Amino acid sequence: MIICKSAAEIEKLRRSGRMVRQVLGEIREHARPGATTLDLEKFVARRFKELGARSAFKGYRGYPCVLCASVNNEIIHGIPSDRRILKEGDILSLDTGVILDGYYGDSAITVPVGAISESAQRLLKVTEEALELALEQVRLGNRLGDVSATVQHHAERNGYTVVREFVGHGIGKSMHEEPQIPNYGQPGHGPVLKEGMVFAIEPMVNAGVAGVKVLDDNWTAVTADGKLSAHFEHMVAVTKNGPDVLTRL
Ligand code: MF3
Ligand code: CO
Repeated sequence: MIICKSAAEIEKLRRSGRMVRQVLGEIREHARPGATTLDLEKFVARRFKELGARSAFKGYRGYPCVLCASVNNEIIHGIPSDRRILKEGDILSLDTGVILDGYYGDSAITVPVGAISESAQRLLKVTEEALELALEQVRLGNRLGDVSATVQHHAERNGYTVVREFVGHGIGKSMHEEPQIPNYGQPGHGPVLKEGMVFAIEPMVNAGVAGVKVLDDNWTAVTADGKLSAHFEHMVAVTKNGPDVLTRL
């Protein structure tokens, strides 16, 4: 069952979503060559404490940190470590979430570390565009397949592939609610979008093959061919007035 939210609940989700986005923006500044991903973890943990938010990630299915920091060929769920030193030219996916007043916020961005190659820049641009185009599809009467197909089409049209093993999701008083939102699909298929539905849409786009492997830490998902991957995530509500992106500052 897809849970529809009231206007008051959507405002709570917006508070959570904006807080996540605010902190993601702040970490961007710390993602410099020489910093470790554990430095970023510590920064985020401190900010959540200051802002009075609880981490949505730490302890979730045993996940040990408040931040997922995934570098280059790592797609998602990279565990922050003091041995992972960022270097110029890396791309870094930052994914984090909060619980505020019982409502979840979840968002992700992929950022450059210093100057990055033109091909890496293009991957980030296309992945973020795929997300923006998908958000535009979050309209009354559209179907979930319209959202999914939009991500897939934009990625593949640009010569990239979409990850199949991980999906976006409904979000509310739980981080993961129905429906699952794949980054591939068929227009005109799936549930019809109704007022008050709230989705976390999160394209994961690979420069090479779509396949993934999970490392021995049982979390870090990497590309099967070692090529780059990018990830962006926004929360969006279905409203009478069109898509309402709750993670926009
Ligand atoms: N943002 C991720 C998602 O939407 C959550 C990361 S899993 C966690 O599923 F274990 F780190 F919480
Ligand atoms: Co998510």
